[in-house]
Order: sequence, then C-alpha cells, then structure tokens
Amino acid sequence: MKILITGGAGFIGSNLAKKLVDLNHEVIVLDSLLRGNKLDKETFKRIQFIKGDVRDFELVREASKGCDLIFHFAAVLGVDIVADNPVETMDVEVIGTRNVINAAEVNNIKKVLYASTSGIYGHSAIDNALTEEVLVDPRTSYAMAKRYNEIYLASHHEEKGINVISLRFFNVYGANQDTRMVVPLFFEQAIKNQPITVFGTGMQTRDFTFIDDTVEACVKLMNIDGCHIVNIANEREWCIKDLAHKIKEITNSKSDIVYIDAPKKRYDYEVERRIGSSKKLKELTGIKPEISLEEGLKIIYETNYK
Ligand SMILES: NC(=O)c1ccc[n+]([C@@H]2O[C@H](COP(=O)([O-])OP(=O)(O)OC[C@H]3O[C@@H](n4cnc5c(N)ncnc54)[C@H](O)[C@@H]3O)[C@@H](O)[C@H]2O)c1
Repeated sequence: MKILITGGAGFIGSNLAKKLVDLNHEVIVLDSLLRGNKLDKETFKRIQFIKGDVRDFELVREASKGCDLIFHFAAVLGVDIVADNPVETMDVEVIGTRNVINAAEVNNIKKVLYASTSGIYGHSAIDNALTEEVLVDPRTSYAMAKRYNEIYLASHHEEKGINVISLRFFNVYGANQDTRMVVPLFFEQAIKNQPITVFGTGMQTRDFTFIDDTVEACVKLMNIDGCHIVNIANEREWCIKDLAHKIKEITNSKSDIVYIDAPKKRYDYEVERRIGSSKKLKELTGIKPEISLEEGLKIIYETNYK
C-alpha cells in the first residue's frame, strides 16, 4: 500500500514508518519537524519525506495523492507545551484533521487512522478498565480537540463512506522518546543521579503501552473497515511512585525520589486513575498489548543506555 503518515517524524510515527517499510509498504511522511526528526537513517532513506505543516491543505492534498491510507498523527503534545500553547494545539488538531479528511475525499482515499488519546476520558469514573463506551470527560484543549475530531471523522464515515478509526492511545512509551513524557524524564533524571520528581503523592495511576505493541495494533487495524474508536491500552495500572522506583532500580541510580506539587497549569491534566480496556482491539484484530511495563523499561535501558 501507499501510506501517508502525518507526524511521521515523531515518536510513534517514526516507529510506525519503520515497521511499514519493513512490511514493504510505500511510505510518505509529512512532518513540520517541530520536535526534530526521530526517523532513523535507514528508515529515512526508504521513505519519501515532506517537510511541512498539516495546516496547509494544498500540501496535504499533494502529499496524499495516490495513497491508499493515511495515518494522521501530527499534533502538538506534552502537558507543559499544550498548557502553554492551547491555541496552536487546537489549530493543528482541528485544521490538520479537517485537511486530512478533505484530502482523503478529494484523492479518493478510503481509510484514515487518527491518533486520538486516552486523555479524553479525563475524570471519567473508573470502576473497571475504561471501555470505549464510557462517558468521556475531556478537560483540556488537547483532549477536547481530539474528541471533536473523533466525532468529525465519524460524520465523514456516515456522509462520505471513508473508513475512519480513532486510536485512543494510553501513555505510549519506548526507546528514543523525549522528556516531554514521564518515562523518558524519569530515565534521564535517574541516569544523571538527579532527583526523580514525582508530582503529588505519586499514587495517581496510568496505563503504559509499549511502542512495539502500539505499532502492531496500528498495523493490524489497517485491515479493519468501518468507523471505530479503539483503545490501545496495556490493561495494567501503575502508580507514578512505583514507576519512579522501578526506573531507579533498573538504572542502578543513586537518585532520591522527591514529591513536589504540580504546577497550577497542569491541574486540568492531573487525573487520579487511568486504565484502559483493549477488549475491542482484541475483538477486531485478535491481538492486544502484552509487553509489561517491567519488560518495556528494561528494553529502553538496554537500547538507550547500554
Ligand atoms: N505518546 C503518547 O503517549 C500519546 C498518547 C495519546 C495520543 N498520542 C497521539 O499520538 C500522536 C503521535 O504522538 P507522539 O508521541 O509520536 O508525539 P510526537 O510529538 O513525537 O509526534 C508528533 C509529530 O507531529 C509533528 N507536528 C506537530 N505539529 C505539526 C504540524 N502543524 N504539521 C506537521 N507536523 C506537525 C511533530 O513535529 C512531531 O514529529 C499524536 O497525535 C498524539 O496526540 C500520543
């Protein structure tokens, strides 16, 4: 297949691009390089790279010409960055997604897979792992835009028959990620024997999904038609305090683990619990994320620091 990945120089997109070229697909990456280029040299040689902004419709239309499918991953993210840049965050989400789906329509592309987020669950009540059916509660510009796009894409399925899948990623982590996210941040602090900084009590939980599992789910979902919202979650809940201790142990670090108040601008992002159900993913594709956090953290250590 000929596949466009917007945001394909980013953490998830670059890993997906590598996988897709290994599977002999033709890959085009459109990325503004806002966060640098995470594509490795070998993969970069095997893809077509277009530097540009997803908010530019002509560019997206041109880049997607002749494609069979689009992965739309371009976004502004990272809690501090989003909190400081809410307008740009929403612009890239809303205008970017509108451009992608319109380009798909003009170029007769039958499928769009969009990177949504578990962030849209916000403070949704959790008795069991969150399923795609629970009432969502997006609180931030980032999460609101993601939810808007899920609905916008679904309407295009209804009206134009384009197959659309919104992927609700749960804290994706892996090697070569940058320190906007908690796992690479704790690694960096631990490796440098600096204090590992935990917000609040550290009892807040997240569901961490390893990059290889995430990419595999994306690849399997390429074969699914229709209109779906799908969680991609590891189905295991880890508190941030335990994450800090585990990274300290794996890296043999002398760091202290310190507990600090989260800055005010992060309050809307501070969620007590998050765990997702991958039941629907399993039903659709036959697979679900399996790599445990301990395994994933060891892979990061081996890859980045040995
Ligand atoms: N990493 C996670 O845990 C996570 C969780 C939930 C959802 N997501 C979503 O998955 C997608 C990929 O995330 P990631 O972790 O790879 O992030 P990332 O920041 O590494 O990648 C995003 C890419 O988008 C590019 N980009 C930003 N603005 C752009 C623009 N206007 N035009 C073109 N390119 C632009 C950046 O340069 C970057 O390469 C995003 O849509 C994100 O919202 C990620």
